[in-house]
Amino acid sequence: MKLWHTRDDLQALQSLRKDGPLVLVPTMGALHEGHLDLVRLGSELGQVVVTVFVNPTQFGPNEDFSSYPRTLESDLELLSKLPVSGVFAPATKEIYGSDLEVTVQPGNRGMGLCGGDRPGHFAGVLTVVAKLFGLTQPDVAIFGRKDAQQCLVIGQMVEDLKMPIQLVDAPTRRETDGLAMSSRNRYLSADQRRQALCLSRALSAGKQSMENGCRSRAEVQQTILDILQDADQVEYAEVRQVPDLGKNEILAGKILLAVAARVGPARLIDNFVLQINDKQVTDSYLLGTGRKS
Ligand code: PAF
Repeated sequence: MKLWHTRDDLQALQSLRKDGPLVLVPTMGALHEGHLDLVRLGSELGQVVVTVFVNPTQFGPNEDFSSYPRTLESDLELLSKLPVSGVFAPATKEIYGSDLEVTVQPGNRGMGLCGGDRPGHFAGVLTVVAKLFGLTQPDVAIFGRKDAQQCLVIGQMVEDLKMPIQLVDAPTRRETDGLAMSSRNRYLSADQRRQALCLSRALSAGKQSMENGCRSRAEVQQTILDILQDADQVEYAEVRQVPDLGKNEILAGKILLAVAARVGPARLIDNFVLQINDKQVTDSYLLGTGRKS
């Protein structure tokens, strides 16, 4: 596994391409099993390159950019045990110059949900992802489904800007009690971690009501919201259509149940992606080539 820090180092990618499709797994480090799943999935598709970069432009002024865990050494240790061809861990100056005049702005899919709570967040994500795509020119890029809106927003960028990249969304890895793995879970005390289970419980209740036949967006949303009240602060509990995040009142087709809430010092998100086929409700994926499980 090679380690690259500069844009010039990425010349090395040319020779990798000869051995198969180049698969990019962009991360901000602080890796957990969920990230490692992205790598495992990527290694089935080609030569995996992981990026580790805590992107300043996707954090708001009062968010956790400065405290976000930076654990490159242990990240490299974890990645070295997997089939990873290389890791690109650039300093900020390699990615951003002194100005940031040209940025990528999200379309409709970036409005509301996390886009509403975190103004400028998706412009920061899209801008850095576009830069990483430009620098590494991957054939495939893999993102975690836990960041569902991010997947959809990036999907729209790739579609609209005609980027020749296949996107894959990988399933959310959960702890045995249902908590979605997240780098931010490490901010939680033992009590807060227990409290944080209300996110996955709320989503399960929403799914259950759909399995019981409920097709009213408002009712499923209320079921989710009732349980999410156990968090310190609810940011949103939403039921939306996929991929456009539309708000059809009668649920049909592919549906995203999405929640965001604060527990102690952490802002946590989670979601379920579900497909309604007549009376059946099954787990699904977001992007054309995603993996269900
Ligand atoms: O999902 C993340 O970790 C980040 O938003 C990403 C895609 C690496 C961009 O900084």
